[in-house]
Amino acid sequence: MDTFYITTPIYYPNAPPHIGHAYTTIFADVLARYKRLTGNNVLFLTGNDEHGLKIQKVAEKQGKTPKEFTDEMAELFKKYWLSLDINYDHFIRTTDDYHERTVKEAFNYIYKKGLIYKAKYAGFYCVECEKYYSPEEYVEVDGKPHCPLHNKPLEYMEEETYYFKLSEFEKYLLDVLSNKDIVYPRSYADEVLSKINKEGLRDISIARPVERVWWGIPVPFDEKYVIYVWFDALLNYLSALDYLNNRDKFNKYWSNAHHVIGKDILWFHTVVWFSILRALDIDPPRKVIVHAFLTSKGAKMSKSVGNVVPIEELLSRYGSPDAVRYVLMRIFNMDKDSEFDFELLDNIYNSELADTYGNLVRRAGVLAQKKTDGKIYRRNIDSKIRDELENKLKSYIDAMENYEVSKAASIAIDTARLGNQYLNDTKPWEKKDPSKELYTVLETIRLATILLYPFTPRASDLVAKAFGFTIENPSKGVVESIERYNVLSAPILFKKIMSKK
Ligand code: MSP
Repeated sequence: MDTFYITTPIYYPNAPPHIGHAYTTIFADVLARYKRLTGNNVLFLTGNDEHGLKIQKVAEKQGKTPKEFTDEMAELFKKYWLSLDINYDHFIRTTDDYHERTVKEAFNYIYKKGLIYKAKYAGFYCVECEKYYSPEEYVEVDGKPHCPLHNKPLEYMEEETYYFKLSEFEKYLLDVLSNKDIVYPRSYADEVLSKINKEGLRDISIARPVERVWWGIPVPFDEKYVIYVWFDALLNYLSALDYLNNRDKFNKYWSNAHHVIGKDILWFHTVVWFSILRALDIDPPRKVIVHAFLTSKGAKMSKSVGNVVPIEELLSRYGSPDAVRYVLMRIFNMDKDSEFDFELLDNIYNSELADTYGNLVRRAGVLAQKKTDGKIYRRNIDSKIRDELENKLKSYIDAMENYEVSKAASIAIDTARLGNQYLNDTKPWEKKDPSKELYTVLETIRLATILLYPFTPRASDLVAKAFGFTIENPSKGVVESIERYNVLSAPILFKKIMSKK
């Protein structure tokens, strides 16, 4: 069985997740479900990034210790992911023991190789980003350096710190990013390459004095310092695979590692991460899959901008995790930001889930019960329809293998559309024995239901149960593979909603 390791970024739990975070997590879950369905041994990792100044400050403000605060938030994040049917295999927290040990070991290993050294640092820092900004990167407002993302003044910091020799990896990175097809879509790799070519690489600070940030993992040989959150966080991808204690497991999954990230953390997941891996003598991941932002009123949806849509608002509007997953994945985009718009999502929900797929299931179910008491045996279906179904399946697999989830979801709905069209054309309700027509239309439903499964697992399971089939691996072809349907009910899956905005 092929392995497939897929990760989301680990989220800062300074606030509950919003639909921007859900956007990434659902995407990863859809790919994980698709890979499981097509016979892979999947390990799907998500979790929280719990150390650093940002978390330390929020906890202080709430009168809690960071540990108390992050414990509560970890439970809250898990609750949100459960409410969206996110089926992760492992939830990592950077305060987990095995993770802290991995980070310390890695720090030691790199230090011993002479790639970490101590020196003075002076520069501007954004606490929201947990990142230093160089003069090329920050923007000036009234002559003062500001964070380009958060529009807030940066903090000036001057301190003795540990540096990681990032500059040593320039040649390696240029080579890997130009020649290996890791970053997807390719345009993001070009973006990173051009930044390296233009600005070169400077060594980065990877520790902070404990009096500035105490909430983190101490430098193993110098307790006056705390390891920088990003160095700490990136290593989660290794510790979750039991890197220290189980090299077999690690090798098995690492060889097919896929990191899903938003474009905001591209630099960290290419330049910084690939260099840390190289310093640890580990190959880069198989893929870094990058997506663009969900925006609201033109700006990246984010707590600090104040334009977030809560996950619960979408859940209550559309009534099910399936629907929320589906509509968000239909606007999912790798290259371009997607502007969040209720009217657009309402339209997608109504026309695709309610009017097309839901309606087909209901119509066919009622008809099958009325005409044949729900029992329909295999017939040869028209070769034209069979070819069309097989083509749909092929293009769906192509889309999924290229992480084009929006396209894959549309193909699934097009399959249902074929079924509706076929019903309209053949009018089985007018026939005395419409077994052939019913078998054909149930095949379109079965295929649509299987293809929709990664997006709408609940509805798919429900239809499979109601009509008497199983959600099986579609990759070897499923058309005409079922002997008999037994339609027990005709479920109403997605109720149409009136636009409320
Ligand atoms: N903790 C770091 C990641 C460390 S990974 C080793 C971090 N966390 S975060 O909470 O800020 O979440 C970042 C990720 O959340 C983004 O990269 C993106 O995947 C997702 N998103 C957050 N807001 C988003 C949008 N408005 N739109 C799309 N994705 C969004 O950075």
